[in-house]
Amino acid sequence: MMMDSDVLHYSVLPREVLGYLGPALKNAESSQIINPPLLIDGTLGEGGHSEIFLKEYPQLQVIGLDRDCEILNRAEKRLEPYSSRFTAVNVWFDDFFSEPERYGAAKAPNAVLFDFGISIYHYEASGRGFSFSKDEPLDMRLDHDSSINAEYIVNTYAQDRLADVIYQYGEERYSRRIAAAVAKRRKVKAVSTSADLADIIKGSVPRNYRYGRIHPATRTFQALRIEVNGELDRIDRVLEKAVNSLTPGGRIGIISFHSLEDRRVKQMLKKLAVGCVCPPDAPQCVCGGTPLVKLLTKKPVRPAEEEVLENPASRSARFRCAEKLPADIGVNNE
Ligand SMILES: C[S@@+](CC[C@H](N)C(=O)[O-])C[C@H]1O[C@@H](n2cnc3c(N)ncnc32)[C@H](O)[C@@H]1O
Repeated sequence: MMMDSDVLHYSVLPREVLGYLGPALKNAESSQIINPPLLIDGTLGEGGHSEIFLKEYPQLQVIGLDRDCEILNRAEKRLEPYSSRFTAVNVWFDDFFSEPERYGAAKAPNAVLFDFGISIYHYEASGRGFSFSKDEPLDMRLDHDSSINAEYIVNTYAQDRLADVIYQYGEERYSRRIAAAVAKRRKVKAVSTSADLADIIKGSVPRNYRYGRIHPATRTFQALRIEVNGELDRIDRVLEKAVNSLTPGGRIGIISFHSLEDRRVKQMLKKLAVGCVCPPDAPQCVCGGTPLVKLLTKKPVRPAEEEVLENPASRSARFRCAEKLPADIGVNNE
């Protein structure tokens, strides 16, 4: 069994996540002893959020998903005391929500949680080159079977394509300079470690940026990780499916860590809350679309000051939540 002291990741916004998703589980728990409530934790990580819910709701069943089998094993050890109510599945979350029954979800969930990105475990202990402050092979794969890793991208993508990845997924304003420096260096010797790449980036950006507020390699490393794991495409593919999978009255909660993620979540929830897809200037609705969800957070919920002090990594977290409406309710949420 994993001890609390072995856990590396602090689960962000724990009270807020419980507060928003809890009612959907509580109602189900009190009315359905024979048919217990179900939470799908779409990004299990080290199982911190799942543990909070399993402790709080004694009838609750949890299915936890993670594509990284190493961290999934850690969560399974941590959640051993709840093994009769917890199932771990090694799958991409978008694949799972395409066919939940195939992966063991026999009924509609009462709540779904996503906590996007990677865990402190990945930076600190995976040995896969996620951190620019460590000297590790440039891998960054969550799926150990995937054929593309960060080393492949850095050494084989055309310079312009590499710059585009760094710009689009890292929002890095020096993407062209960084890609040029990488392209120059790889002509002499392949770039194969995280420290090597971090040095190239450091040497390619202006001095004030090199010693600025964040490490100059932060955005490039984020971009490579997103490209390796197809993170944003997977978010685009999963959100509507996850909402559709919920039981009426069920809730979806989503934690994002950067604007590329949060923008997608905001737009999708807004679209599902409006339902109608007619042009805004249409005199009346002809599409017949009705709202699928009610937004429970008009603005994203941010961590309180105490949480940021205790866990500085939580500072950029943003949480949004919505409740699935019964099929026959056409409430307009606007
Ligand atoms: C921020 S961590 C989750 C931390 C967790 N909530 C906790 O409290 O311990 C995100 C996890 O989701 C996994 N992950 C990211 N994208 C995924 C995807 N598309 N499908 C499945 N797992 C994914 C990562 O491997 C990582 O372990």
